[in-house]
Amino acid sequence: MSPRRLVAIYPGSFDPLTNGHLDLIARASALADELVVAILNNTHKQPLFTLEERMDMIREATSQFENVDVDSFDGLLVDYAGRRGANVIVRGIRAISDYETELQMALINRRMRPETETIFLMAREEFSFISSRVIKEIITLGGDVASFVPENVARQLRARIDVTATRPKRYSKS
Ligand code: PNS
Repeated sequence: MSPRRLVAIYPGSFDPLTNGHLDLIARASALADELVVAILNNTHKQPLFTLEERMDMIREATSQFENVDVDSFDGLLVDYAGRRGANVIVRGIRAISDYETELQMALINRRMRPETETIFLMAREEFSFISSRVIKEIITLGGDVASFVPENVARQLRARIDVTATRPKRYSKS
């Protein structure tokens, strides 16, 4: 009997990809036969980067990992996991504050699709304070994010913020 292939999904918003995400991708891709980095196509949220931009950035930053695929999904994660034949969902935990939401998500997902197990990887200490939200705040306020995100993401962030900063402001007549 041949051993079972481990197909893992690493889902998220990745707006944008951080060094913490990238570290997790490296570690999860070493455990799995195939790792799918899956970006939620969330039509309710207004992201900084479009879905295509995020996919391109992640593809570039993960090009050295041969077993990593980058994709997007709509709807329920467990349905997507079923379509991709994934037996594992990978999530990262940075601090105890992440635990509650992650636990809830893992339990709901297990109830809906017991054949896909959620596994957690602890974020490396040096990345445990990084989040996409904080990165966006720092860059918007003129800070340097070079040590928190991959090089190609830092470039895109600078370009995005420069574009918005140089765009002429529109004032209403009143
Ligand atoms: O990077 P994020 O924002 O923490 O990722 C959250 C994500 C995309 C993993 C989660 O919101 C998700 O899986 N959404 C898909 C909808 C779904 O399956 N909901 C039920 C489980 S909470």
